[in-house]
Amino acid sequence: MTDNKQATVTFSHNDTSCELPVKSGTLGLHAIDIKTLHKFTGTFTYDPGFTSTASCSSKITFIDGDQGILLYRGYPIEQLAEKCDFLETCYLLLNGELPNGKEMRTFVKLVSEHTLVHDQLTNFFRGFRRDAHPMAILVGVVGAMSAFYHNTAQFKDDDYRQIAAIRLIAKMPTIVAMCHKYSTGMPFMYPKNNLSYSENFMRMLHGTPCDDYLPNPVLTRALDRIFILHADHEQNASTSTVRLAGSSGANPYACVAAGIACLWGAAHGGANEAVLVMLEEIGDVSQIDSFIEKAKDKSDPFKLMGFGHRVYKNFDPRAVLMRQTCHEVLNELGLHDDKLFKLAMQLEKIALEDEYFIAKKLYPNVDFYSGIVLRALGIPTDMFTAIFAMARTVGWIAQWDEMITDPEQKIGRPRQLYTGAAKRDVTPISSR
Ligand code: ACO
Repeated sequence: MTDNKQATVTFSHNDTSCELPVKSGTLGLHAIDIKTLHKFTGTFTYDPGFTSTASCSSKITFIDGDQGILLYRGYPIEQLAEKCDFLETCYLLLNGELPNGKEMRTFVKLVSEHTLVHDQLTNFFRGFRRDAHPMAILVGVVGAMSAFYHNTAQFKDDDYRQIAAIRLIAKMPTIVAMCHKYSTGMPFMYPKNNLSYSENFMRMLHGTPCDDYLPNPVLTRALDRIFILHADHEQNASTSTVRLAGSSGANPYACVAAGIACLWGAAHGGANEAVLVMLEEIGDVSQIDSFIEKAKDKSDPFKLMGFGHRVYKNFDPRAVLMRQTCHEVLNELGLHDDKLFKLAMQLEKIALEDEYFIAKKLYPNVDFYSGIVLRALGIPTDMFTAIFAMARTVGWIAQWDEMITDPEQKIGRPRQLYTGAAKRDVTPISSR
């Protein structure tokens, strides 16, 4: 990040004023550095939803929402999705560079050595109702990992942070699969370390001790692509949550649990699950028009799930890749005639041609297609967001690591514009 010495913005308020430097990153918009605004003018900024506010500088992910660009460490998502697998992408996000063959072999070995969870951790599952939502279980169990690996004094230590990242990436598939097995009353499956990351997860999810699971390369590649596309997305709500929780020096596993809680919401990671729920509610192609009208009706809270994005206002580059994967999976499984998939494709077509959606720049986002792919892979709808959490874990931990090592890092503490009662006196209860 550079200070653009020529560019400043002058801010005046009553009889105070200050010069605010304009900062430039490597790519993207300029930012007015308002750090001194309060000190010099006694005012602060108001920005609900942080639509105009950068909370940090970061070298990890770049998004240009207007151009539909997504870069991890400078590499376009399209190239990573074509040429790399998920663990290569993890290495890149964590270390800043793509691995060579030797580095990759070492990294894969390290991850596979940490796939087992502490046996004691399995006890936590039994405290949950069998019908608990997998995200509720995941928040609890990942948070519980902090009890197994806690030493706040070591957060500044590179090796501690590296092993925390490896543990989280390695154990998340095991824990996510356990969430599913627990809710279906099936025995937990141990990881099998000679399988790839996606194969291992599919086996732990779908396999049983009685029948071995034979991975289908088209399907495991599709899942791997879902992981790559969801691995990081700069300062979104859940990542900001992880950074904010971590800014106080909290345990990284607890911070990731906070990120999982935030991701759960339907406006964020819950969207792919919400897409399937919506498709089931629409039920039939003949109902699409009435649901499109509901989505346009301001007095109706209904929104077309899987459409629109806070940042991508022309297209979501991940959606383009996921759409391609969606068709590959449907072809592989001969599912193009499935009622729900036909409905989804028809909804996509109608919404893309509708004036309201065109005018508001509402396009299908990655979750519209990833929900359809996950369903085709035989993954229950209530597991979708847990799978998103599994993919995003590397992004969360890479961002947490960057935050901990950032010399500008401070505890996150937004301000508020107070609109409550002015100062007043308490009258005793007997007089009220
Ligand atoms: N269906 C119908 N109308 C919509 C939709 C939608 N899916 N999304 C936005 N709009 C409308 C809004 O009502 C608003 O209309 P207005 O200008 O008349 O008030 C306008 O489009 C702008 O929408 P905002 O909600 O202001 O946009 P914002 O950037 O705040 O929200 C969001 C983006 C939350 C993703 C929103 O589009 C949405 O709720 N979409 C559905 C949920 C979804 O798919 N989320 C997944 C996001 S991707 C991810 O997390 C990986």
